[in-house]
Amino acid sequence: MAQFYPLRVTDIKRDTRESVILTLAPPSGAEDAFKFIQGQYLTFRREFDGEELRRSYSICAGVNDNMLRVGIKKVDDGWFSSWANEELKIGDTLEAMAPMGNFHSALKPDEARNYLGFAGGSGITPMISLIKTIMEAEPGSSFTLVYGNRATTAIMFREELEDLKNTYMGRFNIVHILESEADIELFSGRLTREKCDALFERWIDVKGADLAFICGPEPMMLAVSDALKAHGMPEKSIKFELFASSRPAKAKKRTDAKGVGAGAKTSATIILDGAARACEIKGEQTVLEAALAADIGAPFACKAGVCSTCRAKLIEGEVDMDTNYALEDYEVERGYILTCQSHPRTDKIVVDYDQ
Ligand SMILES: Cc1cc2nc3c(=O)[nH]c(=O)nc-3n(C[C@H](O)[C@H](O)[C@H](O)COP(=O)(O)OP(=O)(O)OC[C@H]3O[C@@H](n4cnc5c(N)ncnc54)[C@H](O)[C@@H]3O)c2cc1C
Ligand code: FES
Repeated sequence: MAQFYPLRVTDIKRDTRESVILTLAPPSGAEDAFKFIQGQYLTFRREFDGEELRRSYSICAGVNDNMLRVGIKKVDDGWFSSWANEELKIGDTLEAMAPMGNFHSALKPDEARNYLGFAGGSGITPMISLIKTIMEAEPGSSFTLVYGNRATTAIMFREELEDLKNTYMGRFNIVHILESEADIELFSGRLTREKCDALFERWIDVKGADLAFICGPEPMMLAVSDALKAHGMPEKSIKFELFASSRPAKAKKRTDAKGVGAGAKTSATIILDGAARACEIKGEQTVLEAALAADIGAPFACKAGVCSTCRAKLIEGEVDMDTNYALEDYEVERGYILTCQSHPRTDKIVVDYDQ
């Protein structure tokens, strides 16, 4: 059962006109469940107009800060982000799942590595966690952050980033790219492929970098990743965190070589919290939809192939995934699937959420 814990909102700080930073406290006895790895996120649930919504927000604190914080930027007409920015109060309770996500690399305190980070807008939140944790745990490493925003007033964590720059002078550098306001052409505009090429030719040494983290709008992430690869960074050294896909989910494939189509049924065994339960996947249903319809409390958040909350391992059978923005190639090779995007291709499948 995807377990939700009541987190108390202990502080709300207005960061920019459109964003707030929430500090949260787990209930007593559940502190260990909220120990996190740098770059992970929390998934909240709340009812709006009688409908439960789940939304994920990256933790923006270092692993040793002894603090649980998230930064929420208001999206125009967005349900959860508008409510969090306009109505949420100190003392309120937010229901959240334990931290999840793979937007990190293993810490190597004895190595001196060069990291690059590229953030757009609210994509800075997991970077704060990565920068703070890496700078503290790897004293020989350096981190260069390229942070794109509309204008200075939209820069989230502006003061905190300046403080980090002063604390880790010479090891942590920031390059702000602003759509308006910047005096130097190289630092003005958007993080497009051309902008990245110019930065990599004149300012940032991609060949000398070991790893890059990218988080922001999808077109920016693709442009940065293409430019990094063109300047010599291997694909496996680039890590992504996508907040929302700009493309609609692909049309579901409903027939295939094995003839699992609209009228077909598949027997599924779902393993969750050590218990194996049977259910039937009918016609157009995804594995997640079938599990939820059978009252199996499988974990999920975005239902759009973006967050990986619904990740499970396929033990038997085959599935087709409509989209996958969340799993890395090595995870897919090891048999992991996004159950919110998976349709069976075989008469029987076994899926394990516990692995
Ligand atoms: C792993 C993960 C981590 C995330 N971390 C953060 C974080 O740290 N801070 C943060 O502010 N957000 C973060 N997000 C995005 C967040 O989960 C929500 O998608 C976002 O706040 C919008 O939710 P909403 O309910 O307000 O909008 P909705 O009511 O879902 O959407 C309203 C409209 O806005 C569009 N929209 C939805 N999301 C976005 C977006 N991100 N940008 C632009 N348009 C959008 C929708 O297409 C829709 O038209 C994260 C998402 C994921 C998957
Ligand atoms: S619920 Fe987010 S990827 Fe499936």
